[in-house]
Amino acid sequence: MSGGIAAYKAATLLSRLVQRGHDVQVLMTAGATQFVTPLTFEALSGRAVGVQTTDQPMGPISHVKLGNWAEVLAVVPATVGILSRMAIGQPTDLLSLTYMSYQGPVVVAPAMEPKMWQHPQTVAHCERLKTEGVQIYGPVAGHLASGETGWGRLIDTDFLVRAIEHAADARELSHTRVLITGASTWEHFDPVRALTNPSTGMMGFELAQEAAFRGAQVIYVHGPGGAQFGTLHPNILPVAVTNAKEMYDAVFHHIEDTNIMVSAAAVSDFRPERMAAQKLHKDSVSDCWQMIRNPDILQDVGQRYGDRKFLVGFAAETENVVESALKKLERKRLDLVVANQVGAHQGFGSSDHRAHLLDRYGGRQTLDPMTKEQSARIIWDRIIQLLKRDHNV
Ligand code: C5P
Repeated sequence: MSGGIAAYKAATLLSRLVQRGHDVQVLMTAGATQFVTPLTFEALSGRAVGVQTTDQPMGPISHVKLGNWAEVLAVVPATVGILSRMAIGQPTDLLSLTYMSYQGPVVVAPAMEPKMWQHPQTVAHCERLKTEGVQIYGPVAGHLASGETGWGRLIDTDFLVRAIEHAADARELSHTRVLITGASTWEHFDPVRALTNPSTGMMGFELAQEAAFRGAQVIYVHGPGGAQFGTLHPNILPVAVTNAKEMYDAVFHHIEDTNIMVSAAAVSDFRPERMAAQKLHKDSVSDCWQMIRNPDILQDVGQRYGDRKFLVGFAAETENVVESALKKLERKRLDLVVANQVGAHQGFGSSDHRAHLLDRYGGRQTLDPMTKEQSARIIWDRIIQLLKRDHNV
């Protein structure tokens, strides 16, 4: 931690990391101790905090021992001063000294006034650190302690927990471009009402985040509400659409440049034959509205690119889950299908069901009930495993 007002947020981050089973050694710059007391961090981490270059929280030559011990070094918050000391190699505190004797993954979360963040020296220091492989996240825009608004706020704690846990595999999917669809489509029949389904979009969002944290460049084409679950990773380009036709166009606009497509969107198979320009009133509508078929985006992608791109589909079924999903794998020319049982209280928005991963080599994996974040992790593990044996991509 270095000395900025955002230092108080590091206590929440530390607590979250400890609750998730991580062992954390805190190093603070002298500046950080002016904002928050080491006692707080000692209590939360169960370890003595190191500050000066002469402090030895891990015994003699602590900076070297720490360098060997830690699996990740995270600098939260990072001020203009620590960025500079890290970039030019001026270790005047235990933190920058440890950075210089550390060879593992480094995550940095800057927080400072926008003018300092935009200063050419800061820009140059960040560029330098990035070329050394340092992962820099944020700052994000918003209200600042000075009363100003701008790019300077520390990125949120949930994001940092994930960035730290993923720091070691941030290059796993580098040079890979991924297209992900997520959330439901809305097929409007008047300006204020639409035909849709209860998919929350969380699965597509988590799959996009997971791919980005592993180093992929991600295009995330999502229906309404599909990007609302947290701070998007900077590697993600969100493309917001409303209905299936727009999703179709966005997918075909971007697919050429991508290696992998994961289709997690709950696309409406039908749309009302027409859309009224004004809100419809009860009396003006006949009981029966004609519906017409929407194109099957994934199926069309499979027909055109099935032999050249790695395609992952989802199958939400109310019965014969595995059999139906296997037919879909075949018909849409997919490499992997994630099959879920859905019903009145299952599937969409819930995590109390077992998903099945079925691949085109005959592999079968049934997942225990888990969060969407956890299943996104397992789905990407599986994709990467299958890519290694498939040289088409
Ligand atoms: O055939 P079914 O709709 O069950 O297939 C589900 C899979 O196909 C999902 O991956 C979904 O994203 C995709 N899909 C699509 N376009 C549609 C319908 C489904 O891309 N119109």
